[in-house]
Amino acid sequence: MALKRKIRELQERREKVLKGGGDKAIEKQISMGKLTARERIIFLLDDDSFNEYDLFVEHEARDFDMDKKVLHGDGVVIGTGTIYGAPICIFAQDFTVAGGSLGLMHSRKITKIMDHALKMRMPLIGINDSGGARIQEGVNSLAGYGEIFFRNTLSSGVIPQISVILGPCAGGAVYSPALTDFVFVVDKISKMFITGPEVIKTVLGEEISMEDLGGAKVHSEITGNAHFYAESEVQCFEQIKELITYIPWNNSRKARAFKPNDPKKEYKIDNIVPDNPKQPYDVRNVIKAITDNSVFFEIQERWASNIIIGFGRMEGQTIGFVANQPLVLAGVLDVDSSDKAARFIRYCDAFNIPIVTFVDLPGYMPGADQEHAGVIRHGAKLLYAYSEATVPKLTVILRKAYGGGYIAMNSRHLRADFVFAWPGAEIAVMGPEGAANIIFRREIMGSDDPEKVRKQKVKEYKDKFANPYVAASKGYIDSVIEPQETRKILLHAIEVSQNKSSSGPKKKHGIPPF
Ligand code: HXC
Repeated sequence: MALKRKIRELQERREKVLKGGGDKAIEKQISMGKLTARERIIFLLDDDSFNEYDLFVEHEARDFDMDKKVLHGDGVVIGTGTIYGAPICIFAQDFTVAGGSLGLMHSRKITKIMDHALKMRMPLIGINDSGGARIQEGVNSLAGYGEIFFRNTLSSGVIPQISVILGPCAGGAVYSPALTDFVFVVDKISKMFITGPEVIKTVLGEEISMEDLGGAKVHSEITGNAHFYAESEVQCFEQIKELITYIPWNNSRKARAFKPNDPKKEYKIDNIVPDNPKQPYDVRNVIKAITDNSVFFEIQERWASNIIIGFGRMEGQTIGFVANQPLVLAGVLDVDSSDKAARFIRYCDAFNIPIVTFVDLPGYMPGADQEHAGVIRHGAKLLYAYSEATVPKLTVILRKAYGGGYIAMNSRHLRADFVFAWPGAEIAVMGPEGAANIIFRREIMGSDDPEKVRKQKVKEYKDKFANPYVAASKGYIDSVIEPQETRKILLHAIEVSQNKSSSGPKKKHGIPPF
């Protein structure tokens, strides 16, 4: 009898806490087009797999009448579950409880699940929906953030960390997502900024909406803070689930292997790249022509689109793809595209994912804008990331590989394991027109028909250098291959690189050009 009574008491207690901030706050949450914290977790995880912990945690704040306030679960839900069978640690801030603001106990719940994820070597997903540091708790809230940031850094490169911004993520709170591997945003719902519109108005006298300041489009198209953009929360959860299928649970494992499949027949690899080096094409079609089922899971699709990054599978195994995109700015490297690719390369390297690089670019972007934006420092990140990576690194030069771009895009000199080139590849210090204008300037200008001589000299330079055979004759390229041989040859290269062992000089860590 006593046990029955106690079970009933437990059920009643649970029921109360599960109401979060109460009916009115939940109604407000729904009216903003948002799901509640627990609904989000249920949507995301496998059916019936969620187990919640610390349901009965309460805040301990006493100032500013906080002693009179009950905050169920202290505004955050934590637990474990699975996604397609993969074990997951998760937390979701509950905006219906004090605006999901982060006080001491709230932060302790988050750090508890973070510690668990690291100890058990399982991925961590954090759903952010919060007004930031709980103002009434003062320095305890700041301490809480510091503890989270420290753990984000400790876990970096050991377990996958995924952040989902489903509401405000304001003030210092933004730095936890920024320290994680992948950030997901949803149109009209995500708002991410250091200083909000009120502060901006007070300090700068400028008016700006939250959407224009740090909405989903801003972070997926302008800042590059977000990796995935969705139109709705449900679409966002589908993207997260798909991502989970491509990545391993931790850095000592490989991503799960799936059933091998051929690419779709409609992607005819021979017809994608035009002969004319100035004619653009969509390099995603080259990737799709070699991946299983022609599926390419693109990352940061809307930002720095002159480079393409993402995952695909070959013979069931996850591969990280990096490719210049001739459709956008001719595929040049610049500040943002260097940052984008460098970080992705480091991700693949940390999590044992082989990297395939497709090269077709005229080099680094010229101009004062890029120089002043730090293209030297940012461009160096790409060289660093490729040089440092020890996973299998394979390169295919599709067409142009000029200047610094040739070196930076996983060349032999940065220790690519295999470098292949298609017969139309052009490898040179710069494009033939620019090269001829510089080295034959006197001859061109001094002739009776400068235009005729210029054309002649461009042709001379092209015949000599604008092909893959000079580089192949020096062993910088391992093989000149036909486009339709690409998948087969890459699969073989991956197969024979499975047991790659590579070690550099002993050091605490390098100093990449952050
Ligand atoms: C305490 C907070 C809170 C906060 C919101 N609430 N933010 N309580 N501390 N930081 C409470 C509100 O008082 C309200 O309580 C409830 O949550 C819902 O908030 P509303 O304002 O009604 O919601 P909404 O209109 O949707 O506006 C959401 C918002 C706004 C834009 C996030 O609440 C806001 O501007 N909050 C403050 C944001 C901020 O400046 N945070 C501090 C950043 S500094 P009741 O009881 O009325 O329901 C920071 C430093 C961290 O984070 C540094 C770490 C390094």
